[in-house]
Amino acid sequence: MSESMQGLHRTHRCTEVSNANIGETVTVMGWVQKRRNLGSLIFIDLRDRSGLLQLVFDEPQIGTEGFEKAGSLRSEFVIAVVGTVQKRTAAVNENLKTGDIEIIAKDLRILSESETPPFQIEENSKTNEEMRLKYRYLDLRRPDIQHNLMLRSRVLMLMRDFMAKEGFLEIETPILCKSTPEGARDYLVPSRVHPGNFYALPQSPQLFKQLLMASGYDRYFQIAKCFRDEDLRADRQPEFTQADMELSFVDIDDVLDVNERLLQYVFKEAIGVDIALPLPRMPWQEAMDRFGSDKPDTRFGMELCDVSDVVKGCGFGVFTGALENGGTVRGINVEGQGAMPRKKIDKLVEFAKGYGAKGLAYLCINEDGTYKSSFSKFMTEEELDTLVAKMNGKPGDLLLFAADKHKIVWNVLGALRLELGEELGMMDENQYNFLWVTEFPLLEWSDEENRFMAMHHPFTMPMEEDWANIDSDPGSVRAKAYDIVLNGTELGGGSVRIHQSDIQEKMFEVLGFTKELAHEQFGFLLDAFSYGVPPHAGLAYGVDRMIMHMVHADSIRDVMAFPKVKDASDLMSEAPGTVDAKQLEELGIAIVATECEE
Ligand code: AMO
Ligand code: AMP
Repeated sequence: MSESMQGLHRTHRCTEVSNANIGETVTVMGWVQKRRNLGSLIFIDLRDRSGLLQLVFDEPQIGTEGFEKAGSLRSEFVIAVVGTVQKRTAAVNENLKTGDIEIIAKDLRILSESETPPFQIEENSKTNEEMRLKYRYLDLRRPDIQHNLMLRSRVLMLMRDFMAKEGFLEIETPILCKSTPEGARDYLVPSRVHPGNFYALPQSPQLFKQLLMASGYDRYFQIAKCFRDEDLRADRQPEFTQADMELSFVDIDDVLDVNERLLQYVFKEAIGVDIALPLPRMPWQEAMDRFGSDKPDTRFGMELCDVSDVVKGCGFGVFTGALENGGTVRGINVEGQGAMPRKKIDKLVEFAKGYGAKGLAYLCINEDGTYKSSFSKFMTEEELDTLVAKMNGKPGDLLLFAADKHKIVWNVLGALRLELGEELGMMDENQYNFLWVTEFPLLEWSDEENRFMAMHHPFTMPMEEDWANIDSDPGSVRAKAYDIVLNGTELGGGSVRIHQSDIQEKMFEVLGFTKELAHEQFGFLLDAFSYGVPPHAGLAYGVDRMIMHMVHADSIRDVMAFPKVKDASDLMSEAPGTVDAKQLEELGIAIVATECEE
């Protein structure tokens, strides 16, 4: 039977007890990790969020009734124990913070009993994730997840602390918003009062934070929940947390400066990592050319090399064909992998095809300097030598080439580089390479929409020096946008915003909005700006991703308390679920059954 807390006060968390307390009486509470009966003694490992503590039950000390009660304890029972701290009688456990002490129990209360849990509560559980997420409340008891969530709490606290000191105000923005196009798909919430109308959950506080700038709050900050109905990946969730900010009367350097200091502070205080400032910056074009990615992992080389020049007139149709179609031919040098078995190379070809390549040409440089290649028969010895020289190829190297449109070649080689870097152990997880990627294209052509789309969002300021080309060559205009990249992950992004109505109107025009549509969607912002708006800029971090990097988690789910799975459902609460007919009726919503193919 469960007992109550009456008269009891916890004096310490498990690992707050130390050898400094020897001889003292303490009251500890937590979950039974394990019980061991050793003849006349019963040992209990007690667990709370701080860690483990050994309790010893000795019949003469606790009495017969208490001893029997101790014998009935099972895993995950919640207990309270009053006892005396003593030096461990048995061997010291070096792996435990409290490994040199134990508590001799004088009083035991069972606060709550537990069913046998469906899996053991332990670090690095091998239990499959579906099971863990179904019983998330048990999974959350595991020390590694508790560590992640405690660190997360600390990071948020540090951020708030830093931002407050820098004069940022924390202001909450609405969750029930108006749906706006652009960006990811919205989550919609039907309105009862306005049948047929919907709110959208915010994909970010973007518009509101810009309005706050127009209203004079000059430095805004928020830990904001954001919602995006998009396909989930290892580092994406439908609802996630941003550390969001906006600043008035600033240009790029001001935003980057405060953020570099924020990162330096948070990483040092949270995980003891020193970040040297200023952080490196790289224009988008250079990132694509050198790494095939707008979020380069700069912890290792294997950079892309443009060989279009040297293969221009060669006899290999795959290469020349790509160039004739306005494409490019690029390669990576996988140093020391020239002896890679054919089977493994074939796997790389398949991998490349998964990223849209039509094929992957390879050239192995044997130790004796001869070549083994999928295309040597199409090239002269001289052409091959020039190509190898351009790639800095040495005996024992493996050269891989992709020929196609720029975008595909970047994608394919960028992905291959990461795959091989990972496989060959070139990424040191204790190295933190931050990088600002800057000068993004303002616009991106969408074949699907048959129009230009904003690469960041429609409020991003173009670079002054490029703006004159907006009509003649919209694709060439760069934006005052920046991403903060850490070891190949986009940790955050932001931009300087447009605050001039003529530029904003032109931007909407280029994006294919009519004046009416722009006003219908964003009228409140445009109106607000007509009453005096300061130049402003901002940035938002993906907090979940930041924590993932700090704890080296493979999945974003390991740094969130209650994450969703790939199909956006919550295995524990079984959301989303159906609602009753009355609720639907009130909302004026009728469900139309669609036929599912079996
Ligand atoms: P952006 O869309 O780049 O910018 O988002 C900012 C950061 O949020 C994180 N993020 C995500 N994290 C987890 N799951 C997701 N589904 C997800 N989507 C994005 C990323 C990303 O870098 N309003 C702008 C910011 C600005 O301009 O100030 C914005 O939302 O780490
Ligand atoms: P094929 O002549 O199609 O048999 O191709 C000869 C070699 O070129 C093979 O190794 C293909 O994998 C490779 N290849 C085919 N298309 C491409 C491409 N677009 N880029 C790079 N290599 C390719």
